[in-house]
Amino acid sequence: MQRLANKRLVLGVTGGIAAYKSAELIRRLIDAGAEVRVVMTSAAQEFITPLTLQALSGNPVHLALLDTEAEAGMGHIELARWGDALLIAPASADFIARLTHGHGNDLLTTLCLAARCPIHIAPAMNQGMWASSANQNNIQQLETNGIHLIGPGSGYQACGDIGLGRMSEPDDIAQILADSFQTGSLTGTQVVITAGPTREAIDPVRYISNHSSGKMGFALAEAARDAGATVTLIAGPVNLATPDRVNRINVVSAEDMLVATTECLDHLSLNSSVSSEGSIIFIGTAAVADYRPDTSATQKIKKTQGNPNLTLQLIENPDIIATVAKRSPKPFTVGFAAETQNVLAYANDKIARKNLDMIIANDVSNKDIGFNSDLNAVTIIWPEGNKTVDIASKAIIANSIIQQISLQL
Ligand SMILES: Cc1cc2nc3c(=O)[nH]c(=O)nc-3n(C[C@H](O)[C@H](O)[C@H](O)COP(=O)(O)O)c2cc1C
Repeated sequence: MQRLANKRLVLGVTGGIAAYKSAELIRRLIDAGAEVRVVMTSAAQEFITPLTLQALSGNPVHLALLDTEAEAGMGHIELARWGDALLIAPASADFIARLTHGHGNDLLTTLCLAARCPIHIAPAMNQGMWASSANQNNIQQLETNGIHLIGPGSGYQACGDIGLGRMSEPDDIAQILADSFQTGSLTGTQVVITAGPTREAIDPVRYISNHSSGKMGFALAEAARDAGATVTLIAGPVNLATPDRVNRINVVSAEDMLVATTECLDHLSLNSSVSSEGSIIFIGTAAVADYRPDTSATQKIKKTQGNPNLTLQLIENPDIIATVAKRSPKPFTVGFAAETQNVLAYANDKIARKNLDMIIANDVSNKDIGFNSDLNAVTIIWPEGNKTVDIASKAIIANSIIQQISLQL
């Protein structure tokens, strides 16, 4: 069921006796790590209350198409875009007919028309209704249209009949849905990424920093998430939107970044389900300032007449990546080497000196790539080998790095 972790599921519930099973189904999906939003038809609300499904899903239940409040917030198009999959369970014969013929006369059918994600239906109805030629034609057409059918099962029915038409059990539906998602190469891992520059205060209005934009770290966060990892992004001051489904912690200085990193890794290590080898990955993309002023003035430093020189005393900042690489158990630790000369030689030295598992070397002297650019070109180096990724978007570079990390775990 790990494949449901972090997945966004829209569950449609239609009017049938089996609607009571959708409560259990929501529990199964949420236990597997999915986020669930429920849409109910009017008939479904005669069988089970929205309140029950709202309490179980932890989200408001969507009931009406023409609801001005809902349209201002999570309207039908937004909801269709939100879902990674749409599951209708139970799916009534009437709903199946409406779906087959492209109706958009209520929220659920409109959502199905708008959805670009996979749609799964778990029919539930009397065996005679299921076997009817009208219903069988509809099912055939839906399968031709690419709708995925789950069940139905066979057995005793609420009406007293025995036969095909029972909704599949919630456990089976959840499993089939989980299997429908491809396993990402980092499924089940926790990835912690630092990104951006740090700012080291000189006084309340001035600081020392660097040109890092954070774009590489943010692209890696998206790539790791898409590969199935749960991602925490510890970001210095950058002007970038938080990627969807990524947990972001904002920091300012190198010392703040070290505290946030340590707390995050402590928390993950305590969680026994993720502490096995290779399950925690640390990627240090942040351009952490090597030095900071030894004191930060509490008031703005004034310009003194007749004194052309101002001397700042700097002290060394903590080495975040070396600190992470000394932890026990040690996360799979990936560093970045942004150099302006002898890039490969410095990177190889850094991998050995800091006990890293991998280092990404990039030449920031090339103005077309590196800091602030949307492009990059890197060499991925690990103890047994290396791989060069030619100039490409940071998203493509990030995917190559994530793929290489998954091969080395
Ligand atoms: C007590 C009762 C039980 C029903 N059970 C089912 C059922 O299991 N499957 C089904 O397809 N229709 C069943 N129906 C009929 C649907 O509720 C009806 O077709 C309704 O219009 C479906 O609306 P919806 O598809 O918008 O939810 C039942 C009706 C009643 C009164």
